[in-house]
Amino acid sequence: MATRVGVVAAVAGAAVVALLSAALALYGQPLDTALKRAFSLHKVHSVKDMENTFQLVRNIIPPLTTKKHKGQDGRIGIIGGCQDDNPKAVHEVEKWLSRLHALVVGPGLGREDALLENVKGILEVSKARGIPLIIDADGLWLIAQQPTLIQGYRKAVLTPNHMEFGRLSEAVLKDPVDNSDRRAAVLRLSQALGNVTVVQKGEQDVISDGEHVLECSQQGSNRRCGGQGDLLSGSLGVLVHWALHAGPEKTNGFSPLLLAAFGACSLTRQCNHQAFQKHGRSTTTTDMIAEVGPAFNTLFET
Ligand SMILES: *[C@@H]1O[C@H](CO)[C@@H](O)[C@H](O)[C@H]1NC(C)=O
Repeated sequence: MATRVGVVAAVAGAAVVALLSAALALYGQPLDTALKRAFSLHKVHSVKDMENTFQLVRNIIPPLTTKKHKGQDGRIGIIGGCQDDNPKAVHEVEKWLSRLHALVVGPGLGREDALLENVKGILEVSKARGIPLIIDADGLWLIAQQPTLIQGYRKAVLTPNHMEFGRLSEAVLKDPVDNSDRRAAVLRLSQALGNVTVVQKGEQDVISDGEHVLECSQQGSNRRCGGQGDLLSGSLGVLVHWALHAGPEKTNGFSPLLLAAFGACSLTRQCNHQAFQKHGRSTTTTDMIAEVGPAFNTLFET
């Protein structure tokens, strides 16, 4: 399937495996109507609102039971490199798609034209099959060249950093980003893409599905590790599948993708925080991955 799967893609894969093995059954308590307000556009989030959001994320985590077999809680594919010299690459990947529940596209991909042409084909066949798509890194480069590839596909999540967000915004909205109001800028980009979920990574992660805006300010650290974005996109692959699978009664009517994004951002930040406690400035993404299990417990199994 891939001849050039980079280290970063393997990192994301490991994160997915670690996250899957860390999952446990959790059921949330009934949620009151105050929740609705937690998602309002202009309200500053209180501690209670944050806690309610976490409770919704806990709702979507599938129980671990003795009745399940391998793969039942989700099979996530990662396109982190393609057979750029193989005209049949799309066909090769398509054979796998029927077995996958979500696809992460972008980590370690590269930007060669022939390769991106294949990725474009993979996006098209995935959309036709309704497979959720998480797009990051060089995958976002492709979207900035051709926004119509993802426009209106509500099962997609884009995870741009500051630079990638600017590039996307200019491509889609044809004007420079107003950096003074990140929440408004993320909402606007999401809407311009037809309410595709956008996660702008930063000091706080800002998430929008075109209707609501959530901010994730879970404590991380000041250390940014190369590859930590792969931990986010990998865990998003898992959580998006879980959230869509859980159904609307578990998400209290809120967008599953919005909640999945909030969960993945929180987890990545908590991993960063815990790894930094141990390793300080020498923290690497590998150290963060080692924290996936404990961080997952801390956030979602309380
Ligand atoms: C996106 O969501 C907003 C807010 O709910 C809505 O007004 C708008 O019509 C939606 N756009 C599309 C393309 O569905």
